[in-house]
Amino acid sequence: MMSVKKIAVLVGSLRKDSLNRKFAQELVAMAPATLQCEFVDIGGLALYNQDLDDEGQAPAAWTAFREQLARVDGVLIVSPEYNRSMPASIKNAIDVGSRPWGKSIWDKKTAGVVTVSPGGVGGFGANHHIRQSLVALNVATMPAPEAYIGNGAKLLGEDGKVNNDQTREVLGKFIAAFAAWVEKNAA
Ligand code: FNR
Repeated sequence: MMSVKKIAVLVGSLRKDSLNRKFAQELVAMAPATLQCEFVDIGGLALYNQDLDDEGQAPAAWTAFREQLARVDGVLIVSPEYNRSMPASIKNAIDVGSRPWGKSIWDKKTAGVVTVSPGGVGGFGANHHIRQSLVALNVATMPAPEAYIGNGAKLLGEDGKVNNDQTREVLGKFIAAFAAWVEKNAA
C-alpha cells in the first residue's frame, strides 16, 4: 500500500499564460491519489541576501516558503529554460530554501524535474542545471524517466489542456514514476 505523500509544485515561469504552469496543472490532474500536490508561489521571494538571515531579518515570504517546503515529502519542479539555464525564479527558490546554513529544507527531499519549451530542445540545459543544484543539496532527484517537453505550445489546446494521446501518455507515465520514486525515497 502506498501512503499519501505531500508534494510542492514549483513553476519556474511567473507569466499568466505560462506553458509550464499548464503542463504542471496537467501533471497534477493525472497524479495518482497517493500524491497530494500544492502549488507553491516562488515569484514573491526576494533575491537571496545572506545578511537578512544573519541579522534575523528574513522576509516573511522566505519564512513562509521554508515552512511550506519543510512540510512536504517531495518537490516537482516544472520550468522553462532561460538562456540555456534555469530561470532566476527557480535558482532563487533553491537558494532561499538552502539557508540558513545547516537548516536547508532540501536535505533528503525527493524531487522530479520537468522542463517545457516552445522550441525543439525541451529545456535540456535548464533541466540539468536544476538537477546539478538539487544533487548538491542532497535531494534524491528522479533520474528517469526524463521529461524535456519540446514544442510545448503545439501540444496544448485552446483550453490549455494536452491535446493528444501521446503527450498524455508521456505525462501519465512520468507522474506515476514520480509517485513511486517519492514513495521509495521520501525520508
Ligand atoms: C527564453 N526562451 C528560451 N527557450 C529555450 O528553449 N531555451 C532558452 O535558452 C530560452 N531562453 C529564454 C530566455 C528568456 C529570458 C526568455 C523570457 C525566454 C523561450 C521560452 O522557452 C518561452 O518564452 C517559454 O514560453 C517560457 O515558458 P512559459 O513562460 O511559457 O512557461
